[in-house]
Amino acid sequence: MYHDKKQINKQFRIIIFIMIICCFLGCNARKKDFSQIEEEDRIIVGFSQIGAESAWRTCNTRSVQNAAADQGVQLVYDNAEQKQENQIKALRSFIAYQVDVIVFVPIVTDGWDNVLQEARDAGIPVLVTDRKIDVVDQSLYAGFIGTDSLKEGRNAGLFVLDKFENKLERSENTEEYINIVELFGTEGSSVALGRAEGFREVLNAHPNYRIIYSKSGDFLRSKGYELAVEFLDMYEDIDVIFSHNDGMTLGVIEAMEEKGLLPGTDIVIVTIDAQQAAIDALREGKVNCVIECNPKTGPEIIKLAQKLAAGEQIPRLQYVHEEVFYETDELSLIEPRGY
Ligand code: AHR
Repeated sequence: MYHDKKQINKQFRIIIFIMIICCFLGCNARKKDFSQIEEEDRIIVGFSQIGAESAWRTCNTRSVQNAAADQGVQLVYDNAEQKQENQIKALRSFIAYQVDVIVFVPIVTDGWDNVLQEARDAGIPVLVTDRKIDVVDQSLYAGFIGTDSLKEGRNAGLFVLDKFENKLERSENTEEYINIVELFGTEGSSVALGRAEGFREVLNAHPNYRIIYSKSGDFLRSKGYELAVEFLDMYEDIDVIFSHNDGMTLGVIEAMEEKGLLPGTDIVIVTIDAQQAAIDALREGKVNCVIECNPKTGPEIIKLAQKLAAGEQIPRLQYVHEEVFYETDELSLIEPRGY
């Protein structure tokens, strides 16, 4: 009898112990569930960046990362290291991961139809930024936000016309030409194509302006330098260098100075981006016109991504505000650029 009682007591204690453990585990499990809900509430954005080829690009990446952190958006970031195939892989992994929104900077315009169709089949909206794409079905992406490269090219052309207008008017020689060298950005990229097109659109109506050399420096300072060594050897009479970005321009300045030439004086230089080093060069008279390409698009990108995640419509096309800085401006008023 006593033995039975002891046995019952023991069993009772075991049951109580198991209940306490279950209760403890249960509370913890609920706690875990709550934190999962909080995690699940956060929007997940897959962001495919093309690389880190320029100061502009690293600023652009930072801008998106900071904006995501500020807004509590979880950013899955991928650096494609300048390869379209890496970007396509990244987009596919975002689809497999079932992110809420995909944001990507297409390195070139073509070749996106299939992967974007896959994103659509998975129900994931896509925001294109900085560079544009060429797809058969325009509805494969929700919208674009970024730079107006055609306008940047036009602004470069207008500056060149303005700069040489008087010289040509004064000249008796109708055969006098303004010789232009163009440093092209990445081939097949919408920004390089737009800048080239806008520039030509303005100058084509003026037969005395001719482009004598145009090659891609891939938006890299090192290639800008290499190309400058080449074209400075090939031509003695260059009037203008139109460079699609500041990185390549800095390479050109270095090559010119090594040759004993004065950038901005011996040859007029027009450049795009407006990173701090180019503004400094403008102040020193080594560059004559700097056209801004605005990389600080992060806050607007994240706002649009949040709208897409909420199932809202966004504008098809959104250009960011950009300025032009001329050698004749009050240059001391330019605020620090931050890139
Ligand atoms: O797509 C924007 C361009 O890419 C910038 O002008 C250039 O600096 C960058 O690398």
